[in-house]
Parts: sequence; C-alpha cells; structure tokens
Amino acid sequence: MREDFFTYQTQTTPHPLALEISHAKGSYIYDTAGNAHLDFVAGVSACSLGHCHPKVVQAVQDQVEKYMHVMVYGEYIQEPAVAYAKLLASHLPYPLETTYLVNSGTEAIEGALKLARRVTGRSQIISANQAYHGNTMGSLSVMGYEPRKSVFRPLIPDISFIAYNKEEDISKITHKTAAVILETIQGAAGFLQPTNGYLTKVRKRCNETGTLLILDEIQPGFGRTGKLFAFENYNCVPDILVIGKGMAGGLPVGAFVASKEMMATLQDQPKLGHITTFGGNPVIAAASLATLKEITETKLIQETLEKEAIFRELLQHKHIKAINGKGLMLAVMLENEKITNHVVLTCAKKGLILFWLLFEPKAVRISPPLTISKEEIEKGCNLILNALNDYI
Ligand SMILES: Cc1ncc(COP(=O)(O)O)c(C=O)c1O
Repeated sequence: MREDFFTYQTQTTPHPLALEISHAKGSYIYDTAGNAHLDFVAGVSACSLGHCHPKVVQAVQDQVEKYMHVMVYGEYIQEPAVAYAKLLASHLPYPLETTYLVNSGTEAIEGALKLARRVTGRSQIISANQAYHGNTMGSLSVMGYEPRKSVFRPLIPDISFIAYNKEEDISKITHKTAAVILETIQGAAGFLQPTNGYLTKVRKRCNETGTLLILDEIQPGFGRTGKLFAFENYNCVPDILVIGKGMAGGLPVGAFVASKEMMATLQDQPKLGHITTFGGNPVIAAASLATLKEITETKLIQETLEKEAIFRELLQHKHIKAINGKGLMLAVMLENEKITNHVVLTCAKKGLILFWLLFEPKAVRISPPLTISKEEIEKGCNLILNALNDYI
C-alpha cells in the first residue's frame, strides 16, 4: 500500500509522514502494524470528539439508511440541515442567525468574501499578515504569507494587509473596505491571540466605516478555546462567522453564518449567487448536529480550560520558551526549527502524534480531541519532555 500511496496519490510535500492507518478510536490512531498512536493533533483540530465518537457514528449510520444525497444545496427541505442551522443559531448572538452550509473551510471563506462584496457593493478586502484562510484562489488571495502564494499569482485584486494586533493599522480600514477578515486566533502564525482589546477596536472601526467583519473560527471554533466560539472570549461579534473543521466531528464540512438580511442578497441579482452541490449534505449535517449537541450538552467546553492548565503545568522545560494559544489550541514554542523537528519526529517514533504549524517553524502543534483524558495528556506530555531531554 505504501508504494501505491507514493505512486498513485498526489503528494503535498516531498516527505509525507506516511503512517499507514488501520483504524482510529477515541484519542488513538492504530497503524497496520498494530501500533497505537496517541493523537495530540486530532486531524488538525477536526476530530473534536476524538475518533469515531459513538454518537457521531450512530447519527451517520442512521442518516445513511434514510437518504444520502437528494438535491443540490438549498432546494429541498432536509431535516438534518434545518435542525442543525436552527440549533447553531440558538447558540449564536444576533445577528448571526442564518447558516450557509458548504463542504470545507476554504469554500466557506470564499462564500464569506463573496457575501461581503455583494452586501457592501465595495471590493476592497483587508486581511492580516500571517493569516491562513485556506487554499482556493480567494482564500489564497487573503493569505498573509507570500512564500506560499507568489507562484500562483495573479490572485484576486483589491486585497490589502494589516498587521494583526497592531492598533495603528486599524485606521487603514476605510469607507472603501468591504470587509476585514481575521482569524479570531491566528493559527498558522503560531496560535496568536488578539491582545489589548484588538478585536473590539477592529469591530468599532468597522462600525464607523460600514465595513463587515469576518471572523474565521474554522480552527478555534466548537469549544476548543473554552467557549463554543473563540470570539466570545474577546468581546467582539462578527458580521460573518466562518466555521468548519471540528464542526462535524471529523467529516468534511464548512459554513458561513450571517444575518438573514445579508444572506438574502445571495438569492437574487444574480440568482444562485453562491451554489454548491453537496453543501448541507444530510449525512454531514447529521454528524454536525450530533457533534454540536455533544459539545454543548456535556462539560467538554469547560474542561478544555482545565486540560489547558494541565498542559501548561506539565510542559515546563528549558527548551520551551512559551506556550501560545488558548484551551486545547496550544503551540509549544521552542528555540528553533531543529528542536521542533526533533520533537515532532522523535515523538512520532514513540507513539505520540504532534505536528508543525504552517508559517511558524519554532512551534509544535497541540490540538487534541476535546475528549482527551487527563491520563492521556500526562502520557503525551512525558513523551514530549523525554524528547526534549534527548535533544543534544
Ligand atoms: C483558520 C483556518 N481557515 C481556513 C482553513 C481552511 O479549511 P479547509 O482546510 O477545510 O479548507 C483552515 C484549515 O486549516 C484554517 O485553519
């Protein structure tokens, strides 16, 4: 299978980890040689409830037996999508009341950018340096990291960049700006939180200029930061909320949420202003519904902060310079890229899955399932500390 993987499947790097998967359950992934790997990455924050959570599996199985795909998004009334959008709205503040379900995070970003231009009639989009919003052309255009985008130019026009957390730059948002798009917590950049009321200040400026604020919660959303959505930590409600990853407990999904009035602009002039065949797919919506219920009806969100405290207490070492992030979205900051590689690769051999961040070579990603146990955290942290002790 390994040879076929390298022969027939397109690779995204010259050196994929190429772990050969047998199955996965809870906080563990099992390889075909029978080894168990403790998962501190959770499919890059996607497996919010761990692998194959029984309630998600049951919801999928029940739905698969009823119907799997009947029509393109938006035409038919399909109970899982309706129930999901209604439940989600009940957990969101005004004006986040209407949801457009799509298939991935990047597609949700595309929808949000289109919606902002359609609603405001303006074209300028402001994004942040070091921002990551996905890999399709629109999302790539608002990526704040030139080395990963320059070879794909020309990208979409009228995009400007500001420095995240830099107050002076907020005045660059003007009456010409359709939208400001920000990650609530910058992911690829190193799990950087907004500081000094930054998001509140951006919100205020957007209100003054009639600019829409788009918050990308694709990574921090769904309980990972001690609230259902990270923006609840920073006193700021966006006009358009973009979600994905952990939303469906490990299945492909994305969505953007806005006011009913704004979303109505996608219905006409032109008609079908944003369409997708599989968006709102009933199987994915059923998984999303089961995931949202589990996250909101248990103590998982609250426990996220207790688990963060355990990580912070255990992960103390002379090579650890800081731990960025919040809740179960943590980046262990090491002295240099060499130590990062050493820790990720040594732990991989010892049965602990860690990963890198896209733009910050000194960071080790820790984004385990929200369901991870305290014992599993201790076990994984010991492996990290052992790897750091081994570093010469
Ligand atoms: C903050 C953020 N936005 C957008 C995306 C893109 O989501 P997807 O990979 O589902 O297209 C990601 C994925 O890593 C992300 O972390």
